[in-house]
Amino acid sequence: MTANSGHVYASRDLGEVAMARLATSGRPVVVGPDRGRPPERAQLLTGVEGAVAALTMLTDRVDEEFFARAGGGLRVLATVAVGTDNIDLTAASRRGVVVTNTPDVLTESTAEHAVALLLAVSRRVVEADRFLREHDEWVWGPRFFLGRDLAGGVLGIVGYGRIGSAVARRARALGMRVVATGRRAAGPEAAAEGVEPVSLPDLLRTADAVTLHCPLTPETHHLIGATELALMKPTAVLVNTGRGPLVDEDALVAALRDGRIRGAGLDVFEREPELHPGLRALPNVVLTPHIGSAGEQTRDRMALLAVDNVLAVLAGQDPLTPVRPR
Ligand code: DGY
Repeated sequence: MTANSGHVYASRDLGEVAMARLATSGRPVVVGPDRGRPPERAQLLTGVEGAVAALTMLTDRVDEEFFARAGGGLRVLATVAVGTDNIDLTAASRRGVVVTNTPDVLTESTAEHAVALLLAVSRRVVEADRFLREHDEWVWGPRFFLGRDLAGGVLGIVGYGRIGSAVARRARALGMRVVATGRRAAGPEAAAEGVEPVSLPDLLRTADAVTLHCPLTPETHHLIGATELALMKPTAVLVNTGRGPLVDEDALVAALRDGRIRGAGLDVFEREPELHPGLRALPNVVLTPHIGSAGEQTRDRMALLAVDNVLAVLAGQDPLTPVRPR
């Protein structure tokens, strides 16, 4: 599309239902090249040129250059994610562009995945599966493939927000005691759910499993590094379904390799989509490719919410789920 075209740009195909709803805006819709990959930077910038609305993904860097190329007609930027660390919110606000995200609809799905990783690492599910596939013969034994029980253990939730709270409910059902950091961890809702507020060092010292659910900001970058890993129990596991750069991956690989912590379940990586070579080689790590919210129903809900945000703003209404500049 050329400048001043007034189209709606979607950097990826969001599926039939969401794309059909997007078409009701009455504006031309331009979709990124997709084929399973994000648009190249140049394609992204060309695609958004002259757009009135843009739907982008966590793989798209939305910065000053993006907004400059979009031009003054851009009214809304709807990210199909809850995290906004890839978006320059200050630049958006300066240009009067409304930014929206997709909170709530992915809470349960992401919590499920965090618990899936927690179970898989603690009970060595992937390691055991790999073992069976690689060995024709095996013998059961009383000390064979011992993992760590979750029941009776302590789960430490770093960042007790919507997803952290959904993880806490699941952990309680598994028989775990839950401690958490974050403003809401000290609130009445957390207390009613049996969650105990603690400082980060206390959480790291007491937890049998630590799971990260805080947003990535300059303050939380490398929140878990060598110092924090050293505070964890040698039997503890770390789960990250938040954002990769919350963890210093070099320090994590060293801690895992030296047995300073027992294992890790990682859905996100410091330099996505690159995988730290040290992680690949470790048996006590379960790795998934950023699929925390990848439930069929959840991804449909995320896409529809993003589309509804766009439609609302284009119709002169308030967005459903606006993101406030930090
Ligand atoms: C998000 O929404 O930020 C998730 O990481 C996407 O799965």
